[in-house]
Amino acid sequence: RVREDGKPFRQRLLVVANRLPVSAIRKGEDSWSLEISAGGLVSALLGVNEFETRWIGWAGVNVPDEIGQKALTKALAEKRCIPVFLDEEIVHQYYNGYCNNILWPLFHYLGLPQEDRLATTRGFQSQFQAYKKANEMFAAVVNKHYEEGDVVWCHDYHLMFLPQCLKNHNRKMKVGWFLHTPFPSSEIHRTLPSRSDLLHAVLAADLVGFHTYDYARHFVSACTRILGLEGTPEGVENQGKLTRVAAFPIGIDSERFIRALDLPQVKTHIKNLQERFKGRKVMLGVDRLDMIKGIPQKILAFEKFLEENVGWHEKVVLLQIAVPTRTDVPEYQKLTSQVHEIVGRINGRFGTLTAVPIHHLDRSLDFYELCGLYAVTDVALVTSLRDGMNLVSYEFVACQDKKKGVLILSEFAGAAQSLGAGAILVNPWNITDVADAIKKALNMSSAEREKRHKHNFHHVKSHTAQEWAETFVSELNDTVVEAQLRTKQ
Ligand code: G6P
Repeated sequence: RVREDGKPFRQRLLVVANRLPVSAIRKGEDSWSLEISAGGLVSALLGVNEFETRWIGWAGVNVPDEIGQKALTKALAEKRCIPVFLDEEIVHQYYNGYCNNILWPLFHYLGLPQEDRLATTRGFQSQFQAYKKANEMFAAVVNKHYEEGDVVWCHDYHLMFLPQCLKNHNRKMKVGWFLHTPFPSSEIHRTLPSRSDLLHAVLAADLVGFHTYDYARHFVSACTRILGLEGTPEGVENQGKLTRVAAFPIGIDSERFIRALDLPQVKTHIKNLQERFKGRKVMLGVDRLDMIKGIPQKILAFEKFLEENVGWHEKVVLLQIAVPTRTDVPEYQKLTSQVHEIVGRINGRFGTLTAVPIHHLDRSLDFYELCGLYAVTDVALVTSLRDGMNLVSYEFVACQDKKKGVLILSEFAGAAQSLGAGAILVNPWNITDVADAIKKALNMSSAEREKRHKHNFHHVKSHTAQEWAETFVSELNDTVVEAQLRTKQ
């Protein structure tokens, strides 16, 4: 097999992630339609085409019958995807429970669930057992499709047990694991009842990667303090075995966004949006509707800005795209009502017969609509309370080479370390700070906007998803060779 440009692929790569890049929707007994999944992991990995890639993951749907499973497997094969079928009970305990009610909030510094949140999914222990079982199910599919020489790249907090399951089956498999969320301070990780099991399981990998140096450092501290292992500049040592630990900041396929701006359908969206919001500055938020994204705090900061800047009423609009996510988890349901309540109150308070200050959409946009929206935006607001990296900030910058709009960025997003010099950094918990940043952004001179944008645009163009994947995979290959040499010595 060769790549689309006729060149040979570098290597076969098995990408294993809970979520496949496409999610399936059942249309009939044996027919399925597929749509692109949401989230940073998918959007980054879609930009990787140097390798002969197979994706292994969950298609986001329960398929109890054999006819449906066969048809879906066939439809996914065309996208080079291989499904892992998880039944409803496992999804409830593993995905809704352990992954999204326990690990996700904990890794974003929101703490472990209190009793009432645990009770919704039958307690910690059964969720943990389901988590391990789900990881074994992913491992079985990887083992079935693995060919000698493949690189197996496991992704994210859903699959922390996977490296251990794979290595137990085949010591020689090249296994990497990458975390797309923050890894919290070891003091936070210590509170997790299964803290040691998870660390040991991840350490079975040859290479462990994080978005930032700080996350890598927290992981090494957790291994030294909780497991009593030795941390070295290369990683973590356990009885003579070294697990390499390093930072690999992710990027996007920036050219895809830049090229899209010249497409007729995107130009039409741009024209329509410009007409629709003529005479008003456009502020934009694009987030999954998740508690880590700080959407209520962002909207309250916008309210404070309106309170203090009467002259801006009717001259500015906030468009908030809130993509529904994990809708079976009660915390997410509560968040949806909370956001609707705040938006309704503010629009009631500041709206007029002809205009409202906030347009809030509970849905995703297609790629072309999104590019159009990024291109017409004057100020983007990324105010996550914590975020592994946040690629919305990168996508916005990629689409702004004409307009040179301002990025307001949370200092708790991984992206603050790469785009911090060009953005206005804020503490999203401090609503006054964010309201002031909005004012500063809206009044910024074009010379300063240009200077800030130039810095960020350069970064986004030169740090791509492709380069990120290549660096990780080469490092993984090298790590395995070095380990073999060490064993021979
Ligand atoms: C984050 C996670 C991804 C996840 C995505 C969407 O970006 O790091 O692993 O796929 O959110 O969440 P979902 O639960 O819908 O897969």
